[in-house]
Amino acid sequence: MLLLIAALVSFWPTYFPTRAQDTQRTVWDGVYSDGQAKRGEAVYLEACANCHGRTLEGADMTPGLTGGAFMANWDGLTVGDLFDRIRISMPADRPGSLSRQEDVDVVAYILRFNQFPSGKDELPREVQILKQILFKASRQ
Ligand code: HEC
Repeated sequence: MLLLIAALVSFWPTYFPTRAQDTQRTVWDGVYSDGQAKRGEAVYLEACANCHGRTLEGADMTPGLTGGAFMANWDGLTVGDLFDRIRISMPADRPGSLSRQEDVDVVAYILRFNQFPSGKDELPREVQILKQILFKASRQ
C-alpha cells in the first residue's frame, strides 16, 4: 500500500503535464460561454457592424468574418492570433479603442456566429492562453 502511494506521488507530476500537452484545445471544445458571446454581440453591433455588416458578411473592401474565405484565413492559426489582430488593428476607424475584455467578448461572438460550440467557461483575456487554442475550420 505504502509502495503504491509512493509510486503515485512520484508519477503524478510527470504523467499529467505530458498528457495535457498531448491534447491541444481547439475552437470545437466549447471554449467560450453563451453569456460572453451575448456581450460580444452588443460590442460587435456597436463597433464592427457598420463595416463588417450585421450578419458578418463584409462589404466592399471589408472582409467577411464568416464564410469560406474567413475560415481559410484563420484555419491552423490560434484564437490568440485572431484576438491580437482585432486588438491591434480594429475597429479600423479607431484601433485600440476597445478594452481587452470587449475584444475577447467579440471573439466569442464571432466563434458563436460561425457555429463553434459554446461551453461553460469564458475565453480569458490572456493572450498566452488564447494562443494555445487552435482555430480549426473543421472538426477533424
Ligand atoms: C471602419 C471600418 C471597420 C470597422 C469599424 C471594423 N473593421 Fe475589421 N476590417 C476592416 C477592413 C477594411 C479590414 C481589412 C483591411 C485591414 O486589415 O485593415 C478588416 C479586417 C478585419 C479582420 C481580419 C479578417 C481576415 O480574415 O483577415 C478582422 C478579424 C476584423 N476586421 C474584425 C473586426 C472587429 C471585431 C471589429 C469591431 C471591434 C472591426 N473589425 C471593426 C474594416 C473595419
